[in-house]
Amino acid sequence: MSSTLDSPTPLKHTIESSQGLSVLKLSDAAVASKRVAREIGALIRQRASENRNCVLGLATGSTPIRVYRELVRMHREEGLSFHNVITFNLDEYFPIQPNAAQSYVRFMNEQLFDHIDIVRTNIHIPNGTIELEAVPGYCRDYDELIATTGGIDLQLLGIGRTGHIGFNEPGATRDTRTRLVKLDTLTRVDAVKDFGGMDQVPLLAITMGVDSILQSSRIRLLAFGEHKADIVQRSIEGPITSTIPASYLKTHRDVQYLLDDAAAECLSPSTLGETPQ
Ligand code: F6R
Repeated sequence: MSSTLDSPTPLKHTIESSQGLSVLKLSDAAVASKRVAREIGALIRQRASENRNCVLGLATGSTPIRVYRELVRMHREEGLSFHNVITFNLDEYFPIQPNAAQSYVRFMNEQLFDHIDIVRTNIHIPNGTIELEAVPGYCRDYDELIATTGGIDLQLLGIGRTGHIGFNEPGATRDTRTRLVKLDTLTRVDAVKDFGGMDQVPLLAITMGVDSILQSSRIRLLAFGEHKADIVQRSIEGPITSTIPASYLKTHRDVQYLLDDAAAECLSPSTLGETPQ
């Protein structure tokens, strides 16, 4: 099993490249979330008008909740249909039952899927109930399925305080694919609020890899609050390194960070396109 898990070393540094990166500081989380929801809505409608599917990569956690709320509102009040939408979620704890309070299947149903007209068979979330032996094959199939649907058009991301995207924790290299990973201690500490105690937090998760994420056509990363400010600064202004998997996003051709004031607080004025006073 250990061969399927990331080892925290060695660290990899690559050349800086951030031409496809844009960083937006917005007045608050609500404004940033609405902006992303509008972009997603426009993409779904454009694809529908071309009789094509729209493939979305989705995240869980506290950060994207307002985006999902806004998408549900657009469905109810503006007739946005999800009939042509296919979704792939980033990750799931392992093992976990889908009806567990902390399961990402349950989260996605409650926050989004139960309130829109998506075709249930178009929803894909890593399965936290499969046998350990079946995980490597399952993960290969997950990446293959993303590819055969035509790839992810827009990937929504949050960022963990470890610098993880999905559950690609420090040590995850640029070429990682969907796989079983060990959760970082800091990530598990942050999950205690959901599980009630450190001993209840799973040690493992299935996550799309860094490379799986970077295959997406567009990536939109949301980060809110001062507890994200330091890692946001290091992932944008620091070197590209496996110590901070989010730093690999700088190699992507179309990635946007949407931040509130607090999460942008450690960034230099030049990153934000501001003129120093
Ligand atoms: C969730 C995920 C994680 C979270 C990150 C931030 O599917 O992949 O990378 O986006 O841990 O979590 P929150 O939004 O709760 O701060």
